[in-house]
Amino acid sequence: MQGRIPSTGVTSNLRRSMMTTSHTHTQSGSARKSAKTASHTKANSSKGHDPATSLLMADHTKVKKLFKQFGKSKGKDALEDKARIVEQACSELRIHTRIEEEIFYPAVKAALGKDGDMIDEALVEHASCKDLIAQLSVMKPGEEMFDSRFTVLSEFIEHHVKEEENELFPKVRRLKALNLEDLGEQMQQLKQSLSPDSEVVDAH
Ligand SMILES: [Fe+2]
Ligand SMILES: [Fe+2]
Repeated sequence: MQGRIPSTGVTSNLRRSMMTTSHTHTQSGSARKSAKTASHTKANSSKGHDPATSLLMADHTKVKKLFKQFGKSKGKDALEDKARIVEQACSELRIHTRIEEEIFYPAVKAALGKDGDMIDEALVEHASCKDLIAQLSVMKPGEEMFDSRFTVLSEFIEHHVKEEENELFPKVRRLKALNLEDLGEQMQQLKQSLSPDSEVVDAH
């Protein structure tokens, strides 16, 4: 499966993480604020319970579920189901990659120093996924190549997620220069502003 990734030189670092356990960020704003008083060094040393990587892993889990649902879509409603699943997965991925590229990756790259090329490789992988998402956005289920493109997208993402969760995130949690509480809060805010229903909330 790794052989299907374009010649990005992407190593196995960033793809193992999009799909592990989700610890959806359910803390209230005030709870998060009070949590910030705790040492971020402590948070960074925990395994997957910091707000930043937990938010990303929750997204990974959600998208992986959609990939599974796509594979099970059969029968008379299959085309309708596939259209819904692909639209939702692509929407989730667009938001997720923006959060990573605008907030998480730049902060991590700066803190990683000489290991910052992990982030460059992740960006190359994102670019490949974005190409497939753009192609799928102008297609309908039943069209030639629709299923193949989504299947390959799911394979790219699964690989990318494994690297993130198994190699990048553990490194990130050990970076004392990063405050993952603050980072997680910024990421949560951007996610809310980009979510499809955020306009409804803002209107009140
Ligand atoms: Fe990710
Ligand atoms: Fe990523």
